[in-house]
Amino acid sequence: MAFALALGACGDSDTTPDTPLADTSPVDTANANEVLDDASAGEAHDVGADDAADTSAGDASDVGAGDASDVGAETDADTSDPAATARALTAEGEALFFRAMAGELTLRKTAIDKLAAGLALDPEQARGQLVYGMALLSAVAEDGDLFSALKAGPALEKAMQLAPEDRRIPGWLGTIKVGTARALNQPEALDEAIAFMIAATDAYPEFNSVSLAIALSHLPLDTIYPQMAIDRLMATADCAANLDVCKNTAKVPHNNEGALMLFGDVYARIGDAENARHFYTLALTSPDAATWKYATHAQAVLDDLDHRIDLYLDADPSNDPLFFAEGRVACVACHAP
Ligand code: HEC
Repeated sequence: MAFALALGACGDSDTTPDTPLADTSPVDTANANEVLDDASAGEAHDVGADDAADTSAGDASDVGAGDASDVGAETDADTSDPAATARALTAEGEALFFRAMAGELTLRKTAIDKLAAGLALDPEQARGQLVYGMALLSAVAEDGDLFSALKAGPALEKAMQLAPEDRRIPGWLGTIKVGTARALNQPEALDEAIAFMIAATDAYPEFNSVSLAIALSHLPLDTIYPQMAIDRLMATADCAANLDVCKNTAKVPHNNEGALMLFGDVYARIGDAENARHFYTLALTSPDAATWKYATHAQAVLDDLDHRIDLYLDADPSNDPLFFAEGRVACVACHAP
């Protein structure tokens, strides 16, 4: 993934973080709104909104897996009404994207193309811009598609303008800003991006601390950021007890497992094998781990822990392993049933 480029060197590694969670329950920090409703496992549904294009389950047929071709083509929308056509296209794109997130990865490209086509006709669609930005982000993360990174930022910027009340968006955008500044090695832009990321997390800690951890944990060990990633995650770790959005839900069926892997990763990053092992093990033994498709990936991370820590702590940041929530299973790890 583009943003995984490690930065800077490491300072001393013997940080001793506070002990984590008393509560070993589902810690997933990620939470947020209800919006996700649509992402229900495996089904196609019409996420979109209020509007047109009903791509509900059965009718997603025109996108049969693999046929990534018919972008922008037919929709049932009234073609005499460009706005309706635009909404229909973005709604179809959204439905396809959530199917991709549920595991039908071959649909992602068509989803992105449909969203782009709908937004080209009407860029003022808040939901469309958000989903488009996230679909691009998933392509960056899971496919290593660097070109998508260039478009994801502007889409999320636009979504944030159109939907300022959605406090998740700045968190996602922050990861892109930090990742871009690091990849391009632009210190001033990086400072600004870090400030943006922290402000986003202050505004919505329960959700955005996950994004902050992914964005900042890879910064050099002689900065405050790897420890900040831990502190911010741990500060919201008990939200699973209180907030629906912090639990496994039909929309994000393995949120806990994915979040617990991130908890493990931020500790591995600073060389704390004990806490890392603790959280990886929690992920692997959580009740829903039994049905989790990515348990073998997670087990491999745990099995390789000592080696991973060596790589994080050595003087070469370019060999730092990606976090679990950054590579091939970056999004599906939590979102797929
Ligand atoms: C740690 C688990 C986790 C990971 C990893 C994760 N997500 Fe999510 N995601 C969530 C949770 C939790 C929500 C909020 C659900 C809600 O609002 O009810 C969410 C919300 C979303 C939404 C908004 C859904 C909506 O309907 O508003 C999108 C889009 C999304 N994620 C895409 C992604 C992408 C793309 C990636 C990978 C780059 C990713 N997620 C990685 C847990 C995760």
